[in-house]
Amino acid sequence: MRTFALISLFICSGVLAAFVFGFDLRDTVQTLEYDDEQEGLEDQVVIKFSHVTSEHTPKGLAARKFAELVEARTNGTVSVEIYANGALYNDQDEQQALKENRVQIIAPATSKLTSEYPDFQILDLPYAFSSYEEVRKAYEGTIGRTLLAELNKSEMRGMGFWYNGFKQMTSTSESLLHPSDFERMHFRRMPSPVIERQFQALDASTSLLPFNKTYENLHVEFINGQENTTSNIYTKKLYETQDHLTISNHGYLGYIVLTNETFWKNLSDEQREIIETSMEDATEWIRRHSIETNDAHLRELKRTDSISIHYLNQEQQNIWRQALEPVYIETEAFVGRELMQELDQITDQ
Ligand code: LMR
Repeated sequence: MRTFALISLFICSGVLAAFVFGFDLRDTVQTLEYDDEQEGLEDQVVIKFSHVTSEHTPKGLAARKFAELVEARTNGTVSVEIYANGALYNDQDEQQALKENRVQIIAPATSKLTSEYPDFQILDLPYAFSSYEEVRKAYEGTIGRTLLAELNKSEMRGMGFWYNGFKQMTSTSESLLHPSDFERMHFRRMPSPVIERQFQALDASTSLLPFNKTYENLHVEFINGQENTTSNIYTKKLYETQDHLTISNHGYLGYIVLTNETFWKNLSDEQREIIETSMEDATEWIRRHSIETNDAHLRELKRTDSISIHYLNQEQQNIWRQALEPVYIETEAFVGRELMQELDQITDQ
């Protein structure tokens, strides 16, 4: 009985003390900070930017740059969520996802638009460009404007061209130094008829495969070669499955940045202006940084020691050019004489 009385006394004094010293709920409520980060969230525009390469490639880095610029210039009222490595959609699905506004920005290789827009094939012609300056002239001049205008009739709006770099060849067992080295080889290729014709001219067969399936198809030896920039070869670890890398610079891999037309029209004038200038700044950034990123990744490839690197000399390059000459004649039927002349003008200057 005495114990019970003691316990009751102890509990009662505890409750009393809580009320006197600390149990003041009003205090707790009054000192809670108001979280202004949540303010206006319902008005926030979210741009899902989906792409297929690693975050450390020219495209991955430029997407990050673009996102930072847009978010800073809109005080966070427009946010850009980046999905790299094909985490949301691979290169075969992303255009459809964009058309249905499931994502708002994608940046596919220009080669991936060629089935719907055959004129884009012009950018895939082997040895079309022999310098970065020529690529810039094509993107910023009549060729770029013509291609963008074609797109703008569709649900996909072209925002600009982004840069990656010159493509190089990789192969298993045999090095690729002469066109005859391609015979009986099987390559992964992107969906451009020009690229298909390029490998046909070299007597090689091809399979059309998504970018993110290239590693595993090389690994199981379904294919024994592929072409890409050193940045993509390094960041996707393609060198682990390949014995030889030929620095051939035989083609250029660049991107077209696309947004959904309806999404675009629903933005305010101010939002559109900020997104457009941020895209221009990110484009200038990738133009200047894509070269050094590819160079840095080539240095990393040299350091891995797991792939032999061969440079084509001028004479070897001339032989490759000659072997690939028929591709030009076949391509003119698809892109027309006018665009081909524009290309000639750039390369003759
Ligand atoms: C490829 O499919 O090889 C490239 O287009 C990947 C990329 O987006 O750079």
